Amino acid sequence: MVHSYLLLLVFLSFISSSPSMSQTNSSDYETLLTVKKAWGSPSALSSWISQNSSYCSWAGVSCNNGRVTKLSFQNFNIINPIPASICSLKNLSYLDLSYNNLTDQFPTVLYGCSALSYLDLSNNLFSGALPADIDKLSSEMEHLNLSFNGFTGSVPSAIAVFPKLKSLVLDTNSFNGTYPASAIAELNELETLTLADNHFAPGLIPDEFSKLTNLKTLWLSGMSLTGGIPDKLSSLTELTMLALYSNKLHGEIPAWVWKLPKLEFLYLYANSFTGGIEPEVTCFKLQQLDLSSNLLTGTIPEAIGKMKNLTMLYLYYNNLTGSIPPSIGLLPNLAEIWLFNNMLSGPLPPELGKHSPLGSLEVGNNLLSGKLPDTLCYNKKLYDLVVSNNSFSGVLPANIGDCHTLDNIMAYNNNFTGEFPEKVWALPMLTIVMIQNNGFTGTLPCVISPNMIRIQMGNNLFSGAVC
Ligand SMILES: *[C@@H]1O[C@H](CO)[C@@H](O)[C@H](O)[C@H]1NC(C)=O
Ligand SMILES: *[C@@H]1O[C@H](CO)[C@@H](O)[C@H](O)[C@H]1NC(C)=O
Ligand SMILES: *[C@@H]1O[C@H](CO)[C@@H](O)[C@H](O)[C@H]1NC(C)=O
Ligand SMILES: *[C@@H]1O[C@H](CO)[C@@H](O)[C@H](O)[C@H]1NC(C)=O
Ligand SMILES: *[C@@H]1O[C@H](CO)[C@@H](O)[C@H](O)[C@H]1NC(C)=O
Ligand SMILES: *[C@@H]1O[C@H](CO)[C@@H](O)[C@H](O)[C@H]1NC(C)=O
Ligand SMILES: *[C@@H]1O[C@H](CO)[C@@H](O)[C@H](O)[C@H]1NC(C)=O
Ligand SMILES: *[C@@H]1O[C@H](CO)[C@@H](O)[C@H](O)[C@H]1NC(C)=O
Ligand SMILES: *[C@@H]1O[C@H](CO)[C@@H](O)[C@H](O)[C@H]1NC(C)=O
Ligand SMILES: *[C@@H]1O[C@H](CO)[C@@H](O)[C@H](O)[C@H]1NC(C)=O
Repeated sequence: MVHSYLLLLVFLSFISSSPSMSQTNSSDYETLLTVKKAWGSPSALSSWISQNSSYCSWAGVSCNNGRVTKLSFQNFNIINPIPASICSLKNLSYLDLSYNNLTDQFPTVLYGCSALSYLDLSNNLFSGALPADIDKLSSEMEHLNLSFNGFTGSVPSAIAVFPKLKSLVLDTNSFNGTYPASAIAELNELETLTLADNHFAPGLIPDEFSKLTNLKTLWLSGMSLTGGIPDKLSSLTELTMLALYSNKLHGEIPAWVWKLPKLEFLYLYANSFTGGIEPEVTCFKLQQLDLSSNLLTGTIPEAIGKMKNLTMLYLYYNNLTGSIPPSIGLLPNLAEIWLFNNMLSGPLPPELGKHSPLGSLEVGNNLLSGKLPDTLCYNKKLYDLVVSNNSFSGVLPANIGDCHTLDNIMAYNNNFTGEFPEKVWALPMLTIVMIQNNGFTGTLPCVISPNMIRIQMGNNLFSGAVC
């Protein structure tokens, strides 16, 4: 009896001296249970049970030396307000509450979290104006994400007093006043700035942002911006993403934009930019280029063929002239080429589709001519082929009939001749074939794709079916 009692004591002391027990704090443990209760015990917190005090392995909890430092509650179905007790976690530096159903005003209870450096409240249902004393959040703040909520009013200048701030993410809200451009411009460490998709009063792109020389991401779309792209912003040489789409910007795209050495994503679509694309482009790291729906003139630079990582080239709805540079056909990653509604002429690049996983080629409404390259489906990825309203001629590449990924062929209003490859009709994914107003010959299809929804083939030279 005595013997087993001793054994039990030994066992207990072994447990209490094991690292997982010695490195916990009863105060943090109690706090977490209080927070859970305040939130009405959502099922995502079902691992938070008082019988199991190793809270450092509870769902969403991370610790450092037994103190809670991180809470990651993305998509935890949290509805009730954030309880003030959460800030009793004295070492809490990271709080992610994105994708929950939090409502009402900005949670000023978080002013009590003195170690907080990362706060993500994005994708909730917050509303109202941001408090003018939002600078009462910890001065340690580095990342503040309030995007995809319903905040209104003006952005208070107090939001820009955190000396260590690296991300200020305010896009996709209902801000309908102003934002403190000069204060934001003093955030020397800022790498990410998003103000996009808000109802800000119309205005120019602030010159002051030229001071933000560490900026990597600048997302200012859908903000009613007017005027041009300020030349002063040429100081932003660290940019990897520049997104100014869906504004009322005009003037030429400055040459310095085309020379940003680290740029990977350039979205300037849906504005009124005029002039040409800089022929000496050197931003060779570009992956996505979208200049569509502007008033651009001139030719597509040959140098685009040096953007080896380019996957998406959208230049549609402009007034571009000249031919499509053959170098574009050699790009190894290009998957989507949308050049429709321009004044482009000449043939398609000779080996288009051979060197890249080409999926979508849309070049309708141009003055293009010649034969289609027989390499379009070379890598068996092509699903979308729109070449309508051009002056293409000759026969369709016979191997189009082996392009099993093809969903859509629009080749109407051209000068194609020769036999329409019969195998095309039975391609398994095909839904749309529009080839009217050409000189195609062949017989009417006997077997057509089970998914076909639309065939238009009038005004050709087809003869009756021989089934
Ligand atoms: C737990 O944390 C609280 C608050 O930070 C502190 O006062 C207390 O001394 C800690 N207890 C232990 C056992 O570390
Ligand atoms: C305590 O909970 C953690 C995380 O859910 C689990 O890994 C561990 O096995 C539990 N321990 C006990 C004694 O139930
Ligand atoms: C949270 O909001 C979403 C979208 O409004 C809704 O579909 C979901 O049911 C809500 N969740 C809870 C737990 O109320
Ligand atoms: C927790 O925060 C206190 C006060 O800032 C600090 O002294 C301590 O080192 C921190 N503990 C851990 C494990 O980070
Ligand atoms: C919020 O912004 C931060 C900082 O830029 C980022 O790391 C995080 O992924 C964003 N959250 C969501 C849900 O996108
Ligand atoms: C902004 O929106 C709020 C809430 O809808 C409204 O009360 C306020 O008058 C608006 N302010 C401006 C300047 O439009
Ligand atoms: C393309 O991307 C790869 C991988 O991210 C990178 O190593 C390479 O430098 C990039 N190429 C260019 C031309 O930027
Ligand atoms: C293209 O240029 C023509 C003639 O200069 C002009 O009439 C037309 O509006 C322009 N279209 C676009 C989309 O810029
Ligand atoms: C071709 O032109 C016709 C008539 O001008 C137009 O309705 C149609 O949308 C154009 N097709 C494409 C693919 O742009
Ligand atoms: C088709 O070719 C004929 C004869 O070469 C030419 O007259 C006509 O303009 C061309 N049509 C188109 C749409 O290119």
